[in-house]
Amino acid sequence: KIKIIIDADPGIDDAAAISIALNNPQLDVRLITTVAGNVTVDKTTINALKLVKFFEAQVPVAKGAALPLLKPFEDAARIHGESGMPGYDFSGYGEPINKDAVTAMYETLMAEPTPITLVPTGSYTNIALLLRLHPDVISKIERIVAMGGSISGGNMTSSAEFNVFTDPHAAEIVYKSGIPVVMIGLDITLKALLTAPSIEKLSGLNESGKMLHALITHYGDGGEQRVPMHDVNTIFYLLHPEAITTKEYWVDVVTEGPAIGETVADIRGAYHDGKTNAQVAIDIDTEFFNEWMLAEVAKMK
Ligand code: BDR
Ligand code: CA
Repeated sequence: KIKIIIDADPGIDDAAAISIALNNPQLDVRLITTVAGNVTVDKTTINALKLVKFFEAQVPVAKGAALPLLKPFEDAARIHGESGMPGYDFSGYGEPINKDAVTAMYETLMAEPTPITLVPTGSYTNIALLLRLHPDVISKIERIVAMGGSISGGNMTSSAEFNVFTDPHAAEIVYKSGIPVVMIGLDITLKALLTAPSIEKLSGLNESGKMLHALITHYGDGGEQRVPMHDVNTIFYLLHPEAITTKEYWVDVVTEGPAIGETVADIRGAYHDGKTNAQVAIDIDTEFFNEWMLAEVAKMK
């Protein structure tokens, strides 16, 4: 089993990623932490709790950072709706644990005999705070498989992807931490679109499929034919690394100016003398991604 901590801002695609992770027997989700991003942290926490209750999962949820380290906060409610998980009537939700996300991550990581994989699908504020507050935790983190970034143009600005754009200073801390990072960015997540037939099939599978169908059809203005499942690509990578092509680069994060939030890969190896700090995902088997996602949902309740 792959032990993971998911640090998320649900969020429609976060919800799909969490749903698959909670139900896949090869993954052992030890903790879910929340962060402000698609909507406020109060809402992302409620959304994570709704999913945990929906699947009756025994996974603690800890609330994290309400604001980025330095940059003013801007949500993405125009894409993910005011609630962050629109269109489905969840039957309620439980309580977060009585510890903040950073403390919960630290205690969970330190209690494990072997290192754990962190899977951030929101901005990396909690992880940056964890690394700054508890640098002794680094040896307990196996790797960070992070949705975020792009080396082929942004979705917030010309060059910046939303998660890194939301808290570029946190992303810089993560990329400079020395922990191996797998960058699951727009370079693949905008290829691995869930097609209209796949979206249609979801609703007929089971109650989980109905729930995800409701959320996904509320993505953006609701009229999208093919919907990106950005965050799901992290879980897909964990389970099927062979279906994603990666290249090793040094990745820097731009923290000011018009390119703020851009992830710059040293593709020519010229700036960092060929040293690398990340594996950057550059290609994905999109047909298999669609088949796999449907098969994962088909196994749910
Ligand atoms: C990322 O931004 C968020 O809106 C999505 O949930 C995803 O994590 C894509 O840029
Ligand atoms: Ca997200």
